[in-house]
Amino acid sequence: MAESWLKTFNLCRYYRRGPTEVKAVDNVDITLEKGECLGLVGSSGSGKSTLLNLMAGLDTPTSGHIEIEGHSLATLSRRELAAYRAYRVGMVFQSFNLIPHYTALGNVEMALFFNKTPRPVRRRLAIEIMEKLSLADRLDHRPADLSGGEQQRVALARALVKKPEILFADEPTGNLDQDNSRHIASLLKRLNLQGLTIILVTHDLELARSTTGRIIKMHYGQIIETSTSPSKRNDHHDLA
Ligand SMILES: Nc1ncnc2c1ncn2[C@@H]1O[C@H](COP(=O)(O)OP(=O)(O)OP(=O)(O)O)[C@@H](O)[C@H]1O
Ligand SMILES: [Mg+2]
Repeated sequence: MAESWLKTFNLCRYYRRGPTEVKAVDNVDITLEKGECLGLVGSSGSGKSTLLNLMAGLDTPTSGHIEIEGHSLATLSRRELAAYRAYRVGMVFQSFNLIPHYTALGNVEMALFFNKTPRPVRRRLAIEIMEKLSLADRLDHRPADLSGGEQQRVALARALVKKPEILFADEPTGNLDQDNSRHIASLLKRLNLQGLTIILVTHDLELARSTTGRIIKMHYGQIIETSTSPSKRNDHHDLA
C-alpha cells in the first residue's frame, strides 16, 4: 500500500462574524496517498479553498490537525513551516496572487528565490517552465498587462518551477479556453505520472474525471461523497 503523504484529522476551520459562525471546513478527514491526484469539487462556498489553505500551511485550523508524512504541521516552528511552503508545496491560488509590480518572469523566479536556488539557475528554470506553458512571449509583461488565462498560467508556472512534492491547484483552468484547459490537464497528468502529488480544485467535473484518480465532493465544509474517477478505472485496464 502506498505511503500516505497527507492526512487530516477532524479538521475544522470556523470563521466567526459577530454572532454568526461559518463552518468553512467542518470535521474533514482526508488521507492523500503519495503520488495521488485527488479532485476536490463542490458548490461555491463549500470550503475548498479554505481546505487547501490549511493543507498548504497558510492558515491554522480552529481544531483538528494535519500530518505530512506523519509529522503534524502544528508542531513545526515558523522556520520549518516556511520551509514546508517554500520547498515542498506548490500553490496555485484561485485569484493568482501575482505580485503586480514584478514581470511575469519575475513572479515565477520569485518562487526559486524563496527556496534559495542560486541566481543563475533561477532564470533558466523559470524560462523553461514558462515556455512549457506557452508564455515565452509574455516574460516581460506585468500581471495587469496579461489576460486572465495568461495570469493563471504564470501562477501555475510559479507553483511548478520549484518542482514541489505536492501541487495544490485551486481552479487552475478556471479562466482558460478549451485548448489551454486541455493543455494544462495533460501537463498535470504527465507531472502526476512522474510522481507529483496533486490536489485539483475545480468546478469542471469533466476535468476532474479525466485528470484525477479520486474525487471528493464538499458541501457546507463537509465531505459528502468520495468516488473513484473513470480515468483511474481506465488506467487499471490500461495497466492490465
Ligand atoms: N475570511 C473569512 N471570513 C469569514 N468567512 C469566510 C472567510 N473566508 C471564507 N469564508 C467563508 O467560508 C466558506 C468557504 O469559503 P471557501 O472560499 O473555502 O469556498 P470555496 O469552496 O473555495 O468556494 P468557491 O468555489 O466559490 O471558490 C464560505 O461560506 C465563505 O464565505
Ligand atoms: Mg475557492
